[in-house]
Amino acid sequence: MSTHGKLNKVTTATVRDMKKKGEKITMITAYDYPTGAIVDEAGIDLILVGDSLGMVVLGYDSTLPVTMDVMIHHTKAVSRAVSRALVIGDMPFMSYQASVDEAVRNAGRFLQEAGAQAVKLEGGREVAEVTRRIASAGIPVMAHLGLTPQAVHQLGGYKVQGKGSEAANRILEDAKILEEAGAFSVVLECIPTELGRVVSEALSIPTIGIGGGIHCDGQVLVLHDLLGMFERFTPKFVKKYANINVQMKEAVGKYIDEVRQGEFPGPEHSFL
Ligand code: KIV
Repeated sequence: MSTHGKLNKVTTATVRDMKKKGEKITMITAYDYPTGAIVDEAGIDLILVGDSLGMVVLGYDSTLPVTMDVMIHHTKAVSRAVSRALVIGDMPFMSYQASVDEAVRNAGRFLQEAGAQAVKLEGGREVAEVTRRIASAGIPVMAHLGLTPQAVHQLGGYKVQGKGSEAANRILEDAKILEEAGAFSVVLECIPTELGRVVSEALSIPTIGIGGGIHCDGQVLVLHDLLGMFERFTPKFVKKYANINVQMKEAVGKYIDEVRQGEFPGPEHSFL
């Protein structure tokens, strides 16, 4: 359990202060009411309703089929459960690329309809103008650099990014541009540890790593990966803190056996 006071709502100012004080920031994904409640009660600082839900909850091969309406539906459920953590809605593919006006309206839906306090969007300098406009509408923006899964077809797969000095410099410059555009923090996904350090030291806003190394100001993992619930694919950067998949199968298997053998329901689960 975190030592942070549970009653103090986390804000963008909280995470900025945490970086200044050298306190590590914790972030995790959640996609519905029960997972939102569990991670909030555990004391997490930031909750991302990630478009990763397309893969770990809805069974798609990528995040690309996820729509705004799906994200709003799941973000509403998480927001209902959360009292302390900052809830961030992930802007899905094509919700912020077509035009800046559409991006601002879609970002606004996360706060107005879904109860989030911030949004995240993927990309570098090409989303600087969108970031600036959303942030200037009063909507905190988390940037996302390195491996940006919505660009999987352009990147040629889910691969480490920022290898070599040219690619590394581009990520560093993008991070500075997005900070200047008004982002309150930046996710660094799947980049070399040294680049994670350089970017974290160059920015005054916090960096949140996922495969970004130990020097990032905070860390994020996908809840279903950390719990060992999603078996299809486990990236190198994931540490499994549990094997819930096995426990769930054992519990359901036991239920099946007991029903088949006439052991469930017992008298304690039955009415007179
Ligand atoms: O969608 C998501 O869960 C994410 C995290 C992996 C950062 O973008």
